[in-house]
Amino acid sequence: MASTISNARVVRAPRGSQLSCKGWLQEAALRMLMNNLDPDVAELPEQLIVYGGSGRAARSWEDFDRIVAALRRLENDETLLVQSGRAVGVLKTHPDAPRVLISNSMLVPKWATWDEFRRLEAMGLTMYGQMTAGSWIYIGSQGILQGTYETFAALARKHFGEGTEGRRDEGTERHRDGGTEGHRDGGTEERDARDLSGAPSLRGRLVVTGGLGGMGGAQPLAATFNQGVCLVAEVDPARIEKRLATRYLDRMSDSLDEAIDAALRARRAGEAVSIGVVANAADLLAELIRRDITPDVLTDQTSAHDPLNGYVPNGILGSAGVYLGDTRGAMKPHSHGGEPWSARRYQALLRLRREEPDTYVRESYRTMNEHVRHMLELRRRGAITFDYGNNLRAHAVEAHERYSGGPDSVRPYGVQPVDAFQIPGFVPEYIRPLFCEGSGPFRWAALSGDPADIAATDQAVLEAFPDEGALCRWIRLAGEKVAFQGLPCRICWLKYGQRAKMGLVFNRLVREGKVRAPIVIGRDHLDCGSVASPNRETEGMKDGSDAIADWPMLNAMANTACGATWVSIHHGGGVGIGYALHAGMVVVCDGTPAADARLQRVLTADPATGVIRHADAGYEEALRVARERGVDLGR
Ligand SMILES: NC(=O)c1ccc[n+]([C@@H]2O[C@H](COP(=O)([O-])OP(=O)(O)OC[C@H]3O[C@@H](n4cnc5c(N)ncnc54)[C@H](O)[C@@H]3O)[C@@H](O)[C@H]2O)c1
Repeated sequence: MASTISNARVVRAPRGSQLSCKGWLQEAALRMLMNNLDPDVAELPEQLIVYGGSGRAARSWEDFDRIVAALRRLENDETLLVQSGRAVGVLKTHPDAPRVLISNSMLVPKWATWDEFRRLEAMGLTMYGQMTAGSWIYIGSQGILQGTYETFAALARKHFGEGTEGRRDEGTERHRDGGTEGHRDGGTEERDARDLSGAPSLRGRLVVTGGLGGMGGAQPLAATFNQGVCLVAEVDPARIEKRLATRYLDRMSDSLDEAIDAALRARRAGEAVSIGVVANAADLLAELIRRDITPDVLTDQTSAHDPLNGYVPNGILGSAGVYLGDTRGAMKPHSHGGEPWSARRYQALLRLRREEPDTYVRESYRTMNEHVRHMLELRRRGAITFDYGNNLRAHAVEAHERYSGGPDSVRPYGVQPVDAFQIPGFVPEYIRPLFCEGSGPFRWAALSGDPADIAATDQAVLEAFPDEGALCRWIRLAGEKVAFQGLPCRICWLKYGQRAKMGLVFNRLVREGKVRAPIVIGRDHLDCGSVASPNRETEGMKDGSDAIADWPMLNAMANTACGATWVSIHHGGGVGIGYALHAGMVVVCDGTPAADARLQRVLTADPATGVIRHADAGYEEALRVARERGVDLGR
């Protein structure tokens, strides 16, 4: 594989209004590429890893240099082609065409497996682009914070709002009678779970999850913004420390018992507190089951989409930190002798990852299977449980299929496909109604580097949508509480119509000098029209079109035709190789009339593909939005 580590250096995007490229559009791409690798933004910048397991911004440091050089010489009527993190060509196009076209991790479907991807990656032919890593519009944990905040808020409305029981299934009642420790400890159902404004919230509720990486790091703050208690297991103490430093997390503990006790105390007191515990998520759940404690909400954001470079197995090492050998034949979850998670054990596992990848992958699958089994048990006991888009369920099933001798065998990889998918995905549960309205994760960054520019844009959003209570609450909260990472930026979910309106407002701010340099607008690939991902964004589509992948391709082509500044198509993303195809776009407000026209076109067409996709699938809400807002369905 082309060396990703040699030549590593610290990169930060230039600030201010001085250009180092031949135009602002190229400069924007350059700064956002560099911003993705800023040590305050990226998870492992020396390896060019931005977030999400091994999601990279460029294939190697040599490739990074090549992209930077190409962007610096790129003319205003040229387009740079980037193939999986490598600059491969410059074409003469025209000023309204994208300045960069990117394709990441694409494989012919029959070859689209992790094994084949890794073989090709080792030959230096490709890289994992995740979603916004290889398309240069990652903005740190804030990017996911608002989505997670919205998801938890939607969950509170659905399960803890007016007329809801607070819990969902029969298991709850049974356990209420039986009295779980959590319920004996003050009985969550007896507390008022409303926030001070009277809206349903997570107050007095315990959210248990795993993973404090680039995306998962948003969970504790999103939970406490919703007034809940959050207990998160994370195997890497450095990640926990990073979330403490950026104030996404309140406390850290290296003892499971201590962390669980503290979380229960906070739940009883109705305090909004988050606790990161240095532990394997599967072990935390096992301990909750053992102590008969049922969380109110249960999910997971470990990097389970990647069994080698993401997820970390539990119990493969003995108390001396020595590898215990093949556990494939074991008929019960592998024991780790009660030894708590430790830095030594974690480091030994990282060595195993490098030296014996096949063993590591098998242990990863085994742990994921165990992890999902524990989630199912806690769900049975009444925890509101949902999959948070990391493909944990599918990998639990794959564990079963790969290592337990076929679909009829239940042990030791005991989770059957039908079981794992009893856990609902977060999109059908909470997000799809938003997608039907063309709503999605609109984000922007101030190329000046000046936080005052984001304050100006925040103010502009508040003025543009004074009647959108939740949106205004978020913008104010984010302004007060969210620490910037890298270039100052903001995210909020905007609907069809709202996105184009905001784009024009921001372009006017640039034109009138109300901000010090151009503003870049982009979005996550997790959006209404830009992704085909049957275990996540397109899970359980009304018309069964979950795996139809024409939609993200049409989205990318539409954004290219409309003149987005850079457009990308990716494979894999948050769920891994073979499981998703998706597209990204970024468009720059440089204050010019030409930008006005491009912004109007792109920010209309991009969410329109989402409304169209959901209308085509038969969602009433999308059909209504299309009818009322004039989205032409070509009928
Ligand atoms: N829900 C969404 O909207 C969304 C969006 C993008 C990505 N994702 C997916 O969510 C997952 C997390 O993304 P990320 O960017 O935070 O990834 P990341 O790689 O930056 O962080 C994952 C974290 O999980 C930890 N971890 C791994 N295995 C563990 C285990 N068994 N127990 C406890 N901790 C463990 C790692 O140490 C790491 O800190 C990925 O699979 C990603 O693809 C979800």
